Amino acid sequence: MMSRSDKMQFSRQRRTVIAGVAALSSYLILPTVSYASSKKPTSTGRERMDIDRFVEDCVIANKESDAQAAVKEVLAKAVSTPNTIINALGEPSKAGLNVLLSSPTLTIFAATWTPQMNLMPHDHLMWANIGIYTGREDNIFWKRSADGIKAYGAEALFTGDATSLPDNAVHSVTNPLLRFTGGIHIYGGDFFNTTRSQWDPETLNKEPSDGAVIRGIFQRENERLGIDSNG
Ligand SMILES: [Fe+2]
Repeated sequence: MMSRSDKMQFSRQRRTVIAGVAALSSYLILPTVSYASSKKPTSTGRERMDIDRFVEDCVIANKESDAQAAVKEVLAKAVSTPNTIINALGEPSKAGLNVLLSSPTLTIFAATWTPQMNLMPHDHLMWANIGIYTGREDNIFWKRSADGIKAYGAEALFTGDATSLPDNAVHSVTNPLLRFTGGIHIYGGDFFNTTRSQWDPETLNKEPSDGAVIRGIFQRENERLGIDSNG
C-alpha cells in the first residue's frame, strides 16, 4: 500500500511523464500536421534542386504504365519546395521557356510569365503536367464543339500546386499577378516539334501553332515590355 505522500509523489511523476510525452508529441507531430495542411513553401534556405536528377527522375517515371501520374508525382514533390527551384533556375525576369529536356517522348521546360501575361487558347495533343514554383497561373479550359471552342472551366494554380491536363485539353493561361510567375511544364511527347492549334483570343479563329510560334509569342511579350529576351 502506498502512503498518501507516496501517492502524491507518484502522481507528480506521472504528470511529469505525461507532460513530457505531450511535449515530445508536439515536437514530432505538429510540424507534419502543419505541413500537410498548408501549401506554404517548406524550404527557405539556399538548397538547390538538382535539375539533372529531376529530369532523370522524370525520364524514369515516364517509363511507367501510367506515365503521366508517375511524372506528376515527381513534379509535385519538386514544387513542394519551390525555393529550391528558384535557387536552381533563378527568379523569373522575362517571358521565357527554359528547356530542360526535349525528346520524342518527353519535353520539360520552365515557363516564366511576365506580370499579367496572357497566352491564347491552345492545345498540346499530348498529356501535360504543370507545377508552379513562384507566382500564380490561372487556366481557362475550353472544349471543342461544332461551332469552335467554348470555355467550360477554370483552375487557379498557386505556388506549390501541380495539375494534370489530358491529351485532348485546350487551355488559355493568365498570370493575374503584378509580378512574374514561374512553372515547370512537362509534356508526354515532342512538344516543340508537334504541329498543334491555337485560337485567336478575340475571334477564336483556329490557327496553326508549334514551338516556333510559342517562342515568338514569348519574345513579343518581352519586346512589348522592353525586356531583353536574351538578357
Ligand atoms: Fe499549354
